[in-house]
Amino acid sequence: MCGIIGYIGSKKASTILLKGLKNLEYRGYDSAGIATNHATGHIEVRKSVGKIEEIARRLNFESFEGNIGIAHTRWATHGAVTDENAHPHTDCEGKIAIVHNGIIENYRELREQLISKGHRFTSDTDSEVIAHLIEENLQYGFEDACMKAFDSLEGSYAVLALKEDEDKIVGARKDSPLVLGIAEHGVFLASDIPSFLEWTNKVVYLNNYDFIIAERGGVKVYNDGKEVSRHIDTVEWNVEEAKKGEFKHFMMKEMSEQAETIMRALQQDKNTVWDIVDEIKNAFGVFFVGCGSSYHACLAGSYLFSKVAKVHVNAVLASEFENYEHFLTDRTLVFAVSQSGETADILLAVRAAKRKESRVIGITNVVGSSLTMEGHALIMMNSGPEICVLSTKTYTSQVVLMTMLAYAVAGKYEDGLEKIGGLYLEVYNLTSRTMRDSLTTLAEILCDKWDIYLIGRGLQYTTALEAALKIKEVSYLHAEAFAGGELKHGPLALIEEGTPCIVFVSSENRSKILSNAEEVKSRGGYIIGVSSEQDDLFDFWIKVPEAEELNPIVQIIPMQVLAYELAVLRGLDPDKPRNLAKSVTVI
Ligand code: F6R
Repeated sequence: MCGIIGYIGSKKASTILLKGLKNLEYRGYDSAGIATNHATGHIEVRKSVGKIEEIARRLNFESFEGNIGIAHTRWATHGAVTDENAHPHTDCEGKIAIVHNGIIENYRELREQLISKGHRFTSDTDSEVIAHLIEENLQYGFEDACMKAFDSLEGSYAVLALKEDEDKIVGARKDSPLVLGIAEHGVFLASDIPSFLEWTNKVVYLNNYDFIIAERGGVKVYNDGKEVSRHIDTVEWNVEEAKKGEFKHFMMKEMSEQAETIMRALQQDKNTVWDIVDEIKNAFGVFFVGCGSSYHACLAGSYLFSKVAKVHVNAVLASEFENYEHFLTDRTLVFAVSQSGETADILLAVRAAKRKESRVIGITNVVGSSLTMEGHALIMMNSGPEICVLSTKTYTSQVVLMTMLAYAVAGKYEDGLEKIGGLYLEVYNLTSRTMRDSLTTLAEILCDKWDIYLIGRGLQYTTALEAALKIKEVSYLHAEAFAGGELKHGPLALIEEGTPCIVFVSSENRSKILSNAEEVKSRGGYIIGVSSEQDDLFDFWIKVPEAEELNPIVQIIPMQVLAYELAVLRGLDPDKPRNLAKSVTVI
């Protein structure tokens, strides 16, 4: 939920950290701060509430001296959004500074113990205990003090620490992401790769419980008290992919990339696909597990498996997965679907499945994320970095992977690839200027409404759910999805003169869903049809191609664009919706 970055090298740390923070801002954006180990040997900390750009200007981040530093962008979990609660946190003497991402579950006991020993706390955060724990153990030297401090933490952490007069950064990770970047001029330790991609694409994925000492001469990694060697990887992502380019917002850029990212999702190793197909066929119970948009992709997957492969799979919210634990055996197959690969609920579900000896296959976009290390097998989404907090291109990639797997299980892998591949131009056109203009007109009609309802049947119901999520999280308008057949069981009571209702139509269920739309229209509803054909019922028509099992892809893209246009019209920042973060590392 927060982002951290540290740098030690020959360049000015504050310039590098500031850029890194801007790249990490999507992980949390209520406050930020930097600490550097000053050229004169003392620690200097500046931190505040607000957006990074504005804090950096106000506190003059660029004027920091020193070429060792750590920085943090926060998404509050413990303690209000205040200057005091922003990171970095320091010990009583201001000689040690730390940044932390994760949750320290035993912080209350630790804090009480430390207070009884005379430590003075200045924030309400769980993280501050780390700085005081290091201080408490300093008689063992800085490195051992850090090791002892981290050993007493329960919960999750990626933590970086600095101490005055020490030419090094000490870090560690447990259940929160931390990657090492190796550049010619220095070393990075950060929550994700895009934060330092401008300087290097050489990365080391750190394991759980790795303890790292980064010095100018090199980096040492320890695990379980022993020095270990870790492989250096080269990542394929390029810097341009992590930049906005000509686009005003990452959201628009990422939506526009979908023709490409859909094709990239298809680029999977054939043998891996066949192995997974065998696993699905031999499993006794298959679960697709995810949160938010990833859950909607799972739900679409469950319909696709039923329709295309005639195989039953259970789509379950990761946060509800524990209720299904007694069904898990060593013959169960669990697909853990997570763009970030860091979502706490997903990782808990993975561990629950592994405890029952079930097989776990991760589907994720982030190389080196926890999910890539915790599953038994892996499918990468290949979408490139997604910076906007909302999932757009990664959602369609997840749906593509579900579709491709359903076709493969049905013995029609090549047909599936051809069908999805055939969508390239259609998908490209869905974010064209003409489409955007039409959706801006619709956004103008909808932007002052209180409520928007969305209906669909079958696969289109899953699209309605995802479209409602997109609209509400970015425009803050109330949007709610229903299965078309459910309207008459209650929701119709909500329809008044002019209430907007978005109707997702497919050739398969056209007459049924239009009859549901009629029920809304006859009570005064304003009908927005998403379909390949016009109908008299529609007050507004969004024309999309009829793509049968691929409708979830072609129908969601205009809805993503609509959500974006609503946010822009309402003066909101689509890349950083309030109260949300890209990686949800808390339960
Ligand atoms: C919606 C959105 C969230 C995520 C959810 C799961 O636009 O981005 O609902 O889908 O937080 O995140 P991942 O896929 O990273 O596990």
